[in-house]
Amino acid sequence: MKYLLTLVICSTILGAESFITEGEYGEMLYNNPRGIGCVHCHGKDGSGALIAAYKEEGKRVELRGPDIRKVSLKKLKKSLTKRHRVMPTYFLTDKEIKALFYYLHQKGE
Ligand code: HEC
Repeated sequence: MKYLLTLVICSTILGAESFITEGEYGEMLYNNPRGIGCVHCHGKDGSGALIAAYKEEGKRVELRGPDIRKVSLKKLKKSLTKRHRVMPTYFLTDKEIKALFYYLHQKGE
């Protein structure tokens, strides 16, 4: 009986995972990509966001995360693995990058 119960619980959990669509999986990664969420710098939908604003010689300077809704998969992959001045480097798998790509393009349309 105990075994059966474990089996039922496990299959419920595993089964639930398959209900997540590629877009939802991408959204989850976008908000929590094992590092700082993309959302903080690229906005809720990938259209860009203000990261910081400061004054330099009396002029307001803004640091913004760019709109990334239209980037190609190749560019996305490159951006995530190279070193940037502001943006962190991520350690995401190909599958995860593809899910992010899918999510961003869903938003970009
Ligand atoms: C701390 C802020 C920050 C975070 C967090 C961040 N980015 Fe960025 N991202 C930037 C900035 C600033 C740039 C543009 C300048 C540069 O290359 O550093 C950029 C550039 C990019 C570009 C290249 C855009 C282009 O047109 O060249 C892509 C793609 C991108 N980010 C995707 C992501 C994804 C996906 C995540 C989450 C896994 C993420 N970023 C997290 C700040 C951030």
